Formats: sequence, structure tokens, C-alpha cells
Amino acid sequence: MAPLSEVRASNNQLSPATVPAVSVFVGATAGIGKAALAELVSTGFPLRTYIIGRDEVAFQPILRELQASNPSATLIFLQGEISLLAEARRLTDIILSRESSIDLLFLSSGFLPFTGRQETAEGIELSTAVAYYSRLVFIRRLLPLVQAQAAARRATQGLSSSFRPRVVNVLAAGAESADLFLDDLQLKEPGRFSVPSYARHVATMTSVSLKRLAEQSENKDVVIIHHHPGLVSTDLFRKSWGDQWDSGKQQAGPPARADIERSTPAEAGERSLYIMTSAKYGGDGVPVGQGQVAGSTVQGTSDRSLLCVGDKLETLDVGGVLDSLAESGAADTIWDYTNTLIGSHL
Ligand SMILES: NC(=O)c1ccc[n+]([C@@H]2O[C@H](COP(=O)([O-])OP(=O)(O)OC[C@H]3O[C@@H](n4cnc5c(N)ncnc54)[C@H](OP(=O)(O)O)[C@@H]3O)[C@@H](O)[C@H]2O)c1
Repeated sequence: MAPLSEVRASNNQLSPATVPAVSVFVGATAGIGKAALAELVSTGFPLRTYIIGRDEVAFQPILRELQASNPSATLIFLQGEISLLAEARRLTDIILSRESSIDLLFLSSGFLPFTGRQETAEGIELSTAVAYYSRLVFIRRLLPLVQAQAAARRATQGLSSSFRPRVVNVLAAGAESADLFLDDLQLKEPGRFSVPSYARHVATMTSVSLKRLAEQSENKDVVIIHHHPGLVSTDLFRKSWGDQWDSGKQQAGPPARADIERSTPAEAGERSLYIMTSAKYGGDGVPVGQGQVAGSTVQGTSDRSLLCVGDKLETLDVGGVLDSLAESGAADTIWDYTNTLIGSHL
């Protein structure tokens, strides 16, 4: 496990060469994403970041605080309803028209569907749309910009390049499972939809799809990470219950291991900055500290596949379950179904 002292020692070594200079955050209007964004901006380096959220006015006070923490940062809020795939496409179109390369895409949008199954206007189960399908549209449409930055950094290796562009997806690495309704991935049949069932499906679909992307030759220089943040004391539970919330519901989340890491949002922000920038993940970045070891992908390699990062910031060996999903054809079913749903928005 990487203690906070190790995380802070690494973050304190950030330099213009290792900080993601151009980044996009989806889900940074609250919680883990907001804290991660604040950690990045408050490094003080000149940087440009796009913050995508559904309420620009509500975010203004936070935007002002962020700007005060780093006057040289350019902070651009793009407002849109990210539960809709057409909106994810529109928002990515804006970024694609303004940027030719990006260093970091950080995604943490989501909620827990305690109040039951709902569908978006596009007919997709809402919590899965926010945490998976829409995130996949952002990732797939913006990956060419991350690839472009990876190629540019490779070309200048040894000069100024010591950071490997990344996609960091915060959700539930390690919760992958073969216990899936492959004929009903949107859990429409009666009795199939619940918070644990949602959590199992969304974690598995995420790792399957990100692994496939990470292994595509065009992404060989990009680091793709699926991270489980542990238990972070954000407003996730309260917000997910909406007007049905009361403090007795505090414990009603998906089952968690007894030894799971617990942190404040600020600590989760520091840990997120570490994942964004440490060479432990993908080999380039802030050098790993003495006595620390570089992480491994789900294939046991140093790169060219998915890195699943657990709540203790360790890289997880979930290759077994992902291999069995590939062998049984489940991974193809997930990938094909995802493409059917999001294909027209790519
Ligand atoms: N906190 C934990 O202990 C924990 C543990 C494991 C996994 N996770 C996962 O990590 C992710 C981030 O969690 P968090 O604790 O940071 O949550 P959070 O504080 O509630 O923040 C969630 C983010 O997602 C956005 N969002 C939620 N519902 C949305 C919707 N229907 N449409 C558009 N945007 C929506 C929120 O936007 P608004 O600001 O507009 O609401 C916010 O930016 C979630 O997917 C969560 O399931 C969290």
C-alpha cells in the first residue's frame, strides 16, 4: 500500500515536465473529481483544464477558488447533460475543435441508484449511462487527442518529456465479476436491477472495455487506468438518495471489504494526483520512490494493457476474471453491446 506520505512526496516533486498541462475532467463538480481537480490546479503550474458539468452557475464559487489557487491556470467550464450520449458528443466536439492534444482525461461522474431503475430520454438506464456509456463516449472521442500528446511526448523523449498521457477512470476496479446478465446488460427484466447488481455490471463492463482500448495498437503510448478509490467521505450517498435521504441510510452502499481504505475527499484528491502523474503507473512520470515498485497491468506487463488500481493504490491482478470473460465470449458481448448503444455518438 502507498501511504499518504509517499503520495505527498511524489506530488511535491511535480514539475512542468510531469504535470498534465492540458486536461479534461468529467464529474469534477463534486467529490473525488473536484478534489482531484483542486490538487492539480493548486500545483501552481500553468495549465489548461476543461471541467464538464451540468450546472455552471452552481460551480462559479468553486471556479473562483480554483482560479485564486493558481492565477496562471486557464479553467474552462463546459455545461451539458452528461447522462445523454448526444450531449457527450456535443461537449467532446467543442474540445476537439479547440485542442489538438491533451495530457489527461479524468472521469468520476456517477451516483448509486438507491431509488431504483430510471431511464434517460435516450432510453438508457441512468446510473449506467452516467458512469459507463457516457464516460465511454468521452474516452473514445478524446483518445485521439491523448494519442497525439503521447506521440508528441515520445518524439521529444530525453528533452522535456517525462510524463505519459493518461486516462484515469475512477469507479470500482477489483469488483469485476462473471456473474452477469449478458442477455440483459441494462438490467431491464424484473428482479435484476439493484445497487449491487448495477455495481457488479458497471465495474465489469468498464474493465472489459478499457482493457480492449488499452490493448489497441494506437493506444500503446497511452496509460489507461481503472481505479477504485476506496470509501471516500463525499456526498455521494446523500445525493444518490435524493429526497429519500436520512442519516440511517449511511451504511446502505454496495458491500465493502473490512480492510477497505477510507479517506477524506482532500486525501482522495492527493491520491488522484499521484495516479495522474506517478511513474508507478505506466512507467513515465514522477519517478517511483526508493523501495517502491512499478505497477503491472492486468496482463502482468509494465504497459500496453489496462492498469487496475485498487484502494491502496496497488495495481490489481484481475487478469484471471478478465481472461475468463474473454474466453467465455462475455467480453465480446459487452464490447458489441456497448458499441451498439454508443456507436452513433462516436
Ligand atoms: N465516494 C466513494 O466512497 C466511492 C467509492 C467507490 C466508487 N465511487 C465512485 O466514484 C465516482 C465518484 O464518486 P464521488 O464520491 O466523487 O461522487 P460525488 O461526490 O457524488 O460526485 C459525483 C459526480 O458525478 C456527477 N453526477 C452524478 N449524477 C449525475 C447525473 N445524473 N448527471 C450528470 N452528472 C452526475 C456529479 O455532478 P453534480 O455535481 O452536478 O451532482 C459529480 O460531478 C462515482 O461513480 C462513485 O460511484 C465512489
